[in-house]
Amino acid sequence: MKVLCPLLLAPFFFAACTDSAPKNSGNPAPAIDSVVVHDPHTLSNTDSVKPQHLSLDLAVDFSKKSLSGTATWVIQNFGGAKEFVTDNAGLQIQNVWADGQPVAWYVGKEVPYLGTGLHIPITPTTREVRIQYSAAPDASALQWLAPAQTDLKAEPFLYTQGEAIHTRSWIPAPDGPGIRFPYDARITVPKGLMALMSATNPQATNDSGVYHFKMEEPIPAYLVALAVGKVEFQKVDARTGVYAEPSRLSRAAWELGEMPKMVEIAERLYGPYRWGRYDVIILPPGFPIGGMENPRLTFATPTILAGDRSLANLIAHELAHNWSGNLVTSATWDDIWMNEGFTVYIERRITEAMLGKSYVDMLWELGYQDLEKAVVDFGPTSRETWLKNDLAGKDPEDCLSDVPYEKGSLLLWLIEKNVGRDKWDAFLKSYFDKHAFGSITTEQFLRELHGQFSDKDSTLEKTLRISEWVYGPAIPANAPRADSARFTQVNRVRTAFLQTGTADSAATAKWTTYEWLHFLRKMPRPLSEAQLRALDNTFHFTKSGNSEIAALWFETAVYAKYKPAYGEMEKFLSRVGRQKFLTPLYTALKESGQGDLAKAYFRKYHNAYHPIAQERLGRLVGE
Ligand code: BES
Ligand code: ZN
Repeated sequence: MKVLCPLLLAPFFFAACTDSAPKNSGNPAPAIDSVVVHDPHTLSNTDSVKPQHLSLDLAVDFSKKSLSGTATWVIQNFGGAKEFVTDNAGLQIQNVWADGQPVAWYVGKEVPYLGTGLHIPITPTTREVRIQYSAAPDASALQWLAPAQTDLKAEPFLYTQGEAIHTRSWIPAPDGPGIRFPYDARITVPKGLMALMSATNPQATNDSGVYHFKMEEPIPAYLVALAVGKVEFQKVDARTGVYAEPSRLSRAAWELGEMPKMVEIAERLYGPYRWGRYDVIILPPGFPIGGMENPRLTFATPTILAGDRSLANLIAHELAHNWSGNLVTSATWDDIWMNEGFTVYIERRITEAMLGKSYVDMLWELGYQDLEKAVVDFGPTSRETWLKNDLAGKDPEDCLSDVPYEKGSLLLWLIEKNVGRDKWDAFLKSYFDKHAFGSITTEQFLRELHGQFSDKDSTLEKTLRISEWVYGPAIPANAPRADSARFTQVNRVRTAFLQTGTADSAATAKWTTYEWLHFLRKMPRPLSEAQLRALDNTFHFTKSGNSEIAALWFETAVYAKYKPAYGEMEKFLSRVGRQKFLTPLYTALKESGQGDLAKAYFRKYHNAYHPIAQERLGRLVGE
């Protein structure tokens, strides 16, 4: 992860974030025992109405960018509420019935970032609420791709991205990570296309265009997901497989060939995989993020298809979410480190088991560098660098950064080193078991942790000062640091290059992606054109098929105004919608006095980007 925010954002959004955040007031002790968990990002009333089941019956019409039909909720009005309130962002509501009778629903006032509540009158005995609606064509969860944005260029494509609070733009649902329900769906799509969900999935296209889905386990709304397109399936083993456009299917299946092993390792460490199948869909390159852990079906960017399996740790990450995140979920977005930090930790444990310690040490070190940069950019005392967030009144994605990922995983690594790997693994296994299909706050986790590992004389708190990690800024002094033997050798090659102007390709022959990333990251900026030319002639970076290396190279090239890379960079910008790459590239253009070129590229290619990315990158380049 290169910039502040790995996923979605441009650094300047953090300014807004920082301004409105309360200042760190000396690590106040939190209320450890709060019983009622308040989620500031839902307008629903699940404190008195439990959503027990959702049935979707939706039709997809590409010509109108229309997703419409009905959502039927089975509810239990255990609090005797007078209404059932779902979240809603721009849905056009046509009719609502409660137990078959039309009711006088209304949509409440718009709340910044959250949308509106859909208020549905109910009685204490109401069991079923049916909502007939359509999603707005520009719903924030939906990306409608024209055929030209796919590989085959023959059929359109649609996918959803629910996290953090976008599901409400395509389903009227109580939308918070602490609110779970099982669902089923009937989805009608144009004949010839396949529909897939975070549920039981078809493995072949059918003739009717009607697909049925079931997710029997209760999941939060942000994990309800849909993809529709011309895709095919290829199995990897009996319970894992890959969906992709036919042109990249066999490449994808090879690249993800280690999935069965990853699932086995995760199960050995953290208990059974509880979701049945584990499949991955490789989406078209416009997908705005790297991966999304939709249960049973991870959504992934094709930019992980490097040809050497070196970027498959992203799949280890999304797979790991099936324990941390999907099975045991952060209760609110303020606790997101419990999803992402745990997941990075587990991802690295899987990677270590597969590729060894010196390999995963490189990932820890690059992650540490990302975290250091986030702390510098936010400021060393900034509230955004606590693990526990304070996002009430804000867009939960606007403050998303490397902090929950890297600081969160470092804390777990620190605990592991302190209590010992065996005990720590046993703790996590039973934690996932105990809280399976439930949600958890930071405070509940800390309480269990102390209960398990603290004794009267020497508490974990005293030795590790965990509350400084969670309720304090920056990187605590006791943060563990990976062994950097492999990067020391990289540093030597870089220094030699900077001194002599020539690069030693024998010394780099066995390098993996991560050595290359460290090599390029730590180059001074700008390098001279001659230096860029020498690097390119020796290592052919401009033509690299590895998206991580290529993106970093283009950034380096932009600062040096090394024009021979611009053609390939433009192709990259025209195809790839992943913000982790786009944000640094557009930022580099702007910062290096090439703002007009940034604008020109953006104008030309913005249609290929996700609506949210369009908006954010548009603001970045000043469009
Ligand atoms: N769950 C996240 C994606 C996400 C987080 C979307 C918050 C919206 C809001 C996913 O698991 C993730 O972390 N993806 C990373 C990959 C990774 C290897 C760190 C990404 O997309 O870059
Ligand atoms: Zn994640």
